[in-house]
Amino acid sequence: MGEHVKFATKLGIIATTVGSAVGLGNIWRFPYEAGMNGGGAFLMVYILCVLVLGIPVMCAEFIIGRHSKSDTVDAFRKLRPGSRWHYIGYIGILASVLILGYYLVISGWTLEYLFRAITNDLAGKTAAEFRAEQNAFIQSDLRPLLWTYIFLFINYIVLSRGVQKGIEKMSNILMPLLFVILLVFCVRSLTLPGSSEGLSFFLHPDFSKITPQVIIRAMGQAFFSLSLGMGILITYSSYFTAKTHLIKTATTVAILDTSVAILSGIIIFPAVFSCGLDPVAGPDLVFVTLPNVFNQMPVSALWSTLFFLLLTVAALTSTVSLFEVSIAFLINYLNMSRKKATRIMMLVIAVLSTVSSLSIGSWSDIRIFGKTLFDACDYFSAIILLPVGGLLISIFIGWFLKKNISREELTNRNKLHEPLFSAIFFCIKYIAPIIIILIFLSGFGII
Ligand code: PHE
Repeated sequence: MGEHVKFATKLGIIATTVGSAVGLGNIWRFPYEAGMNGGGAFLMVYILCVLVLGIPVMCAEFIIGRHSKSDTVDAFRKLRPGSRWHYIGYIGILASVLILGYYLVISGWTLEYLFRAITNDLAGKTAAEFRAEQNAFIQSDLRPLLWTYIFLFINYIVLSRGVQKGIEKMSNILMPLLFVILLVFCVRSLTLPGSSEGLSFFLHPDFSKITPQVIIRAMGQAFFSLSLGMGILITYSSYFTAKTHLIKTATTVAILDTSVAILSGIIIFPAVFSCGLDPVAGPDLVFVTLPNVFNQMPVSALWSTLFFLLLTVAALTSTVSLFEVSIAFLINYLNMSRKKATRIMMLVIAVLSTVSSLSIGSWSDIRIFGKTLFDACDYFSAIILLPVGGLLISIFIGWFLKKNISREELTNRNKLHEPLFSAIFFCIKYIAPIIIILIFLSGFGII
């Protein structure tokens, strides 16, 4: 049944997992969340969430995935036969499908901007023109959809080739490229006149800005950015080898992912301040404010092309991982071929992203709890489903799975790793569940 595949190399394991984590969440979502929620204050809470919740929950997912060597639903069935724990797997599939529904639309916008950057169509515009064009573009019906379908097709090409030849090979090429582009941008941004004001906005925490709402958003952002709580890392770690050191891998992934988020802030805020623009622009920060910033630099077409290439690469390695959750499930559960499973998922997501793209334009009066379908997908999956998934996963590992299984997986049977194991296990069992619950209760005004 299914495929018993593995990633081929150590580098591949890190590149694919970091590839899933580093995405629009780091470069598009993190800077605007930080900008709207107090800059440095948000960053500080965010880093705490990564350390206390992110790394332990990631280890928990790795234990489940590598031990069961299965998809996210079957993994729980194997570990606790006859129980209902596998519903967590279904929550994960639901969350990944909902996220794909709007993530692909934004990925499509990224392609549009990449195209316009290459054809030098972003040059010489005023701020007002950028805003008007962005609004007209995302509210139009056909053009955003066209780019979304093209992005879907690129996903299809990668995913239908399989785990090693598709996902791993792509990540090995694209992730180093992503880091090189990031570093080039960092140097560019920090050498702009007046960049220090932006840096201090981003790096100096103002504690008065930390409210329960800010904390709940920082937690949601940490889960989103690390691709946690929805079975992606269960699926990916089922492709890890017996030698992979899980704690080391989780720490490396968390450090690299957080570095990219911080680097994005270091790139974006100094540039925004240096041009006298507003850091609180929300989701428009990357699509309206930044092209404006590039316009004020020499060789602007080069900078905007590089930036939107960076965003496209980051988005692609993440969407591939989002798809893989359901594809692995279909292959295992329904015994489908990879090609067929991939085609079915493409179709499902094509429909969902069409609806979510149109919900910004002609169908914008369809509302769920007062939000457009697009915003509802984002809020419900990122802020609610992922932390709930993470909560259930940590309860499962901490309280229901035999402790020895976790010990074996996290230490690789090496006694030297025992103290580290105890510390992580303590976080999984007590700290993560309690803190996630407390953050929810205070975020919703219950305590
Ligand atoms: N972690 C990815 C990002 O930051 C997005 C993502 C979320 C991918 C959830 C998979 C699962 O963009």
